[in-house]
Amino acid sequence: MKIAVVGTGYVGLVTGTCFAETGNSVTCIDINEDKIKSLRNGIIPIFEPGLDVLFERNIHQGRLKFTTNLKEGIQDASIIFLALPTPPGEDGSADLSYILGVANDLGPILHQYTVIVDKSTVPVGTAEKVSANIAKGATVEFDVVSNPEFLREGVAVEDFMKPDRVVIGTTSDKAKKIMDRLYAPLVRQGNPVIYMDERSAELTKYAANAFLATKITFMNEIANLCERVGANVDEVRKGMGSDSRIGKRFLFAGIGYGGSCFPKDVQALAKTSSDFEYEFEILKSVMQVNHHQKTKLLPAIRAYFDGNLKGKKIAVWGLAFKPYTDDIREAPALENINALLAEGAIIKAYDPEAQANVQRLLGDKISFGEDLYDTVDGADALLVVTEWPEFRTPEFDKIEKLMKNKVIFDGRNVFDTDQMAELGFDYYSIGRQPVISSIKV
Ligand SMILES: NC(=O)c1ccc[n+]([C@@H]2O[C@H](COP(=O)([O-])OP(=O)(O)OC[C@H]3O[C@@H](n4cnc5c(N)ncnc54)[C@H](O)[C@@H]3O)[C@@H](O)[C@H]2O)c1
Repeated sequence: MKIAVVGTGYVGLVTGTCFAETGNSVTCIDINEDKIKSLRNGIIPIFEPGLDVLFERNIHQGRLKFTTNLKEGIQDASIIFLALPTPPGEDGSADLSYILGVANDLGPILHQYTVIVDKSTVPVGTAEKVSANIAKGATVEFDVVSNPEFLREGVAVEDFMKPDRVVIGTTSDKAKKIMDRLYAPLVRQGNPVIYMDERSAELTKYAANAFLATKITFMNEIANLCERVGANVDEVRKGMGSDSRIGKRFLFAGIGYGGSCFPKDVQALAKTSSDFEYEFEILKSVMQVNHHQKTKLLPAIRAYFDGNLKGKKIAVWGLAFKPYTDDIREAPALENINALLAEGAIIKAYDPEAQANVQRLLGDKISFGEDLYDTVDGADALLVVTEWPEFRTPEFDKIEKLMKNKVIFDGRNVFDTDQMAELGFDYYSIGRQPVISSIKV
């Protein structure tokens, strides 16, 4: 099939590349000229494990192309995916200007029956709005389908190629047939393609993300309680998670969720609810708790330095909002770094993939380490913000020699409290009792 993908970001590029991998001819379109130039030169502008192999193969086979020209890009396409941004607007609702703008442009340039697919996360009722905008200029028949994307950054290719399920919102039999054919190679193992109406599909995506954000937040509140009552959240997690009704995943306590999806989707669902005169109380709490959770370790850091962070060198391990991505949107690291800088601390940070993105954002406000050890050299404290696997078993004897104080603030519980005590570190984590063993210098 001939496919066009409008918006070549994390979702658009993965969608386009994976559909090229199943034999389709795909053109990815983006208004960002630098991005398209780099893609045409064979350079992937994001870090996503496994994407490079598929990207190179499909470019080589001539199945994957890139352009900034919408009209040229959609020529002869029978399916057009919209993988455009839906950032939060000022009132928290999803900003639909990107999607509705492209929908306006599409109408007059469609030349045959086309299925237009909302891949972006969009509020209930958007398919109808997209349809109305296209209809203003269209002279041919078309259908607008809601097909929310559930991929996770860091494992996006795997999620896309082997989805747990595919949700397709459409009431058109013609569109259903085309979508069926397109997705068939990805669900050969029998994972379901679930058809529903457009509104239910749109809501499914928000319901899934809001539920996951709530699960994380519930566990973070349990962690906060553990600290007060002398319990250990890791033990509680194991005890709870072995109940199959609860499940083991998404139960890890930490300094809050970030990223480009959970924060904005929880906010947008709460806004949709109040627009429909229903106050989604639990989501309001989730947002509030997560906001506080992100900077939860700051009071302990301040207290450790008697309230004065001026000139204190803080090493930060982890900048991306989670491991295996370079995405720093709404990353807890940024909030912590900005707060520490505001109090006069000096920051040196390390992340295996996200340093360039942070450098673009913060310039020379902070410096960057070459590796774990260079980052902690001369540091007064270490703050761990992202649970990259390479942080889990470092050479502590080396760290001990390099750091000025043996103190670690761990927002992701990557270390074992007993080991920290054995090694003589002061160690503050989430939902576990602090380890106090060294004397400050
Ligand atoms: N990132 C994720 O993990 C993820 C997962 C599932 C769903 N989603 C949803 O998918 C959508 C896209 O997210 P993303 O993370 O890929 O965003 P992104 O910011 O990485 O990519 C969006 C791209 O669209 C381009 N763009 C903007 N206006 C354009 C226009 N008029 N024409 C062509 N291109 C244009 C931008 O330049 C950018 O490259 C959002 O609604 C998001 O909520 C994201």
